Amino acid sequence: MKEKILKYNAQIPRYTSYPTAPHFMAKNADDYAQALAALPAGSAVSAYVHIPFCREMCWYCGCHTTATRKYAPVEDYLTLLHREMRMTAEKTRGRLALSHLHFGGGSPTMLQPDDFRRTMDVLREVFTFLPDAEIAIEADPRGVSHDKAEAYGDCGVNRASFGIQDFSPAVQAAINRRQSFATVEKSVGLLRRIGVTGVNFDLMYGLPLQTVNNIADTIAQSLSLTPDRIAMFGYAHVPWMTKHLRLIRDEDLPDAAARIDQFSFAEGLLRDAGMEPVGLDHFAMPGDSMLEALRRKTLARNFQGYTTDSAGTLLGFGVSAISRLPDGFYQNTPHMPEYNAAILAKNLPVARGRTLDAEDRLRADIIGQLMCYFEADIPAILKQHGRDAGEFSAVIDGLSDMAADGLVTRDDGCIRVTQEARQAVRVVASRFDAYFKPQQKKHAQTA
Ligand SMILES: C[S@@+](CC[C@H](N)C(=O)[O-])C[C@H]1O[C@@H](n2cnc3c(N)ncnc32)[C@H](O)[C@@H]1O
Ligand code: SF4
Repeated sequence: MKEKILKYNAQIPRYTSYPTAPHFMAKNADDYAQALAALPAGSAVSAYVHIPFCREMCWYCGCHTTATRKYAPVEDYLTLLHREMRMTAEKTRGRLALSHLHFGGGSPTMLQPDDFRRTMDVLREVFTFLPDAEIAIEADPRGVSHDKAEAYGDCGVNRASFGIQDFSPAVQAAINRRQSFATVEKSVGLLRRIGVTGVNFDLMYGLPLQTVNNIADTIAQSLSLTPDRIAMFGYAHVPWMTKHLRLIRDEDLPDAAARIDQFSFAEGLLRDAGMEPVGLDHFAMPGDSMLEALRRKTLARNFQGYTTDSAGTLLGFGVSAISRLPDGFYQNTPHMPEYNAAILAKNLPVARGRTLDAEDRLRADIIGQLMCYFEADIPAILKQHGRDAGEFSAVIDGLSDMAADGLVTRDDGCIRVTQEARQAVRVVASRFDAYFKPQQKKHAQTA
């Protein structure tokens, strides 16, 4: 099966949205303000807050962040971020309710305790938090202190995802991210003590110098800390997009076949430990709400990966943050000087986005079903969208190559990615992407 999956290995998006961000177009603050004003007062929304700072750069990092040893830029940024939150709220018709809040980055753990509290105060000033709201933070284990943990506890943080990647010193040196097991153990303990009940770990495969032995050790050590969820992200090596990725030596990288072996091996270990796979790269312990969402078919895909958050509206705050509103996507400028200038001029810092038409929504639905459930009943989805059940027959016929290789089945137009071919799901999804052009050097390889 590995050879068959490799046949289709190509640069394909991760489909955290459809259309994907490279297909966003110019949008401005007025467009976004109109979309905000159309939200019914009191509706439940999610929020994402982007903190684009880290102490030091990990060489594999594809996130929108910069390294800073000084705190002044973080403070300056927060002043503008708080203004953006208030300006956004002013554009809505009434107070919105918040069901999910996610601090991502970068490293939100860069914020000093009082700054984290002030940020939460602003969010509580502009939104009504629902009583069972999930408040999640992406935590760099090296940046969690007792004081910060206390602030998170006081502010109601209840889920944390910790960046681990790999515990082996050789791999850590090759990616410029040195952190011991003791550091991770301590930070997980601190956050559990203040009331974090959902513990997620980010691990990676396909890293330089990484072998299945490193992965086995990393998984064993990770499991000893009893996480509720593990994400096993494939390293996306896109040095043509992000300069510091060039610090990773090509010759140190496992090839596509080794990457498939690494993921299958990791999957086996995680399944043996009782975890169940969710989507392409997540695993959860029995009883976890993500498995419940999978069963109920309410699992969703967002810019961080998979989520139980089914709120249709996501408001993104901060440089580069993406919002999803009923009419489409809006993205803030990724350039800090532009972000600063917009907020100082009292404008929302939106630069790009995409209004969704009926065709986009239909294709987004198909791609979302494939990415979440490895299955898309095309005639049923077409019917839900009020379309003719015979549409997409050419795309379905076009999957004959993958069907012949045993990667998909196509019973009565219901596409299923076979269990052994799950790593090829992005290839299947791309066949339904109207904007995708093969061979673009824009995305990481699928395997
Ligand atoms: C914002 S970081 C997590 C929080 C914190 N900054 C940290 O690293 O501990 C998000 C996660 O994205 C994953 N990631 C970053 N760059 C990646 C890349 N190029 N390919 C795949 N995954 C990547 C890593 O697993 C990382 O933990
Ligand atoms: S992986 Fe996390 S800590 Fe490392 S550079 Fe990226 S955002 Fe910062």
